Amino acid sequence: METKVQKYLECFHLPLEKLQEISARLKKDFNRGLGKHTHHRAAVKMLPTFVTATPDGTEKGDFLALDLGGTNFRVLHIRVNEDEQRVMKSQNCAIPQEMMVGTGEQLFDHIAACLGEFVNSQDLKGQTLPLGFTFSFPCEQKEIDKSILIRWTKGFNCSGVEGEDVVKLLKEAIHRRGDYDIGSVAMVNDTVGTMMSCGYKDQSCEIGMIIGTGTNACYMEELKNVKRVEGMEVKEGENRRMCINTEWGGFGDDGALKDILTEYDEEVDRTSINPGIHTFEKMISGMYLGEIVRLVLVKLTQEKLLFNGETSKALLTPGTFETRFISEIEKEDKGVENTKKILADLGLTSNAVDLHIVRLICDTISSRSARLCAAALATIVNRIRVNRKLDHLKTTVGVDGAVYRKHPNFSEELQDMVRRLAPQCDINFIVSEDGSGKGAAMVTAVAQRLALQSRLLEDSDGEDDDDEEEEDN
Ligand code: GLC
Repeated sequence: METKVQKYLECFHLPLEKLQEISARLKKDFNRGLGKHTHHRAAVKMLPTFVTATPDGTEKGDFLALDLGGTNFRVLHIRVNEDEQRVMKSQNCAIPQEMMVGTGEQLFDHIAACLGEFVNSQDLKGQTLPLGFTFSFPCEQKEIDKSILIRWTKGFNCSGVEGEDVVKLLKEAIHRRGDYDIGSVAMVNDTVGTMMSCGYKDQSCEIGMIIGTGTNACYMEELKNVKRVEGMEVKEGENRRMCINTEWGGFGDDGALKDILTEYDEEVDRTSINPGIHTFEKMISGMYLGEIVRLVLVKLTQEKLLFNGETSKALLTPGTFETRFISEIEKEDKGVENTKKILADLGLTSNAVDLHIVRLICDTISSRSARLCAAALATIVNRIRVNRKLDHLKTTVGVDGAVYRKHPNFSEELQDMVRRLAPQCDINFIVSEDGSGKGAAMVTAVAQRLALQSRLLEDSDGEDDDDEEEEDN
């Protein structure tokens, strides 16, 4: 029985050489995404973020943060000082399913209402605090406070937002209410927030990675390689950097992953609300892993290799096998017990062999996800090492997302694999706590620090000018 099952699962196996090949393909896509003439058509978007510095530990102040990227969104009041970024208060607001696919105006009115309620309840109404806005969707950032949504992902599809400046939509919604106001806004992707919040603790943190509902990563790229940004000339020998939001979820949208896509991946894509988009993400992230497992379970049951050949209504219904079940089934101690309960809740009758096979399927799917992420992360660390002309790179990755955090051995498998794929890199992983919210506040704080520093610089230039004038006189 098990060998027959193995045959069906072979299509998910990715040996080291295959992962190296995938990493090499992604490397090419990174260059395409950064190129002046190639980025328009690139599957991996490599979006400039206008974040040009990581925290130096001197930032301080009070900030509001908004974090929108999944089914919930959060409002936070954050205080940054010399030794910590503290969440003073936070509040979760649900986004009803209808609103995720309703109009943009409804969505932003809802966000402005929740923010208003929070500001009121915290007595922050008169303060017009600066706001960090974590918006975890691919955006073409024009400036730190101007960001055009390229397209929705992860189940969102609100009308009238794609192609628009999201900061403007938020400000308009706040002004429509007219009962409170906000200060300057900095807009960030959740990967950037995660990198920045970890960067406060560990200043060698220059990569942010998310493996949750969606998957993505950002990293600090040499500005001279970011050919697609106009007007940021770099002088010879200058080491200026900019954080790039890779949007690696789009890898494969041009067919680059055709050889490793399985019939189950194709089905997940076909039945999603955005077919053909975010191919890589659909093989990796929490929004899709459970559904891949469900499709394999259905197939093996129909082939009479599971549950005595008998499916159930629940098993045949899309979305019923949640990604969190994979973590519960793969748990070392309680795995068998959990599997029994999950299968019974799905109306399936299982024996000991079934339990074993179901676990094998979950393990195969989560392991493929970890290995694919490892290949992508290896591409980034290798790139940073080559960029800096180093034989050996020591770096830190800030990570967040439920798949990485909650699965019993996902992080271990990912880390082992990256080390094998990038042997010249010594990588430290930090799990970010409240990363995207705190990070948005950090981006705002760093932007303020830089503005202050350049004002001081201008002032001291001014003093020199005065001196010169005096001499002239
Ligand atoms: C999706 C979004 C991306 C985000 C990621 C993780 O891939 O397109 O912007 O960073 O999900 O939340």
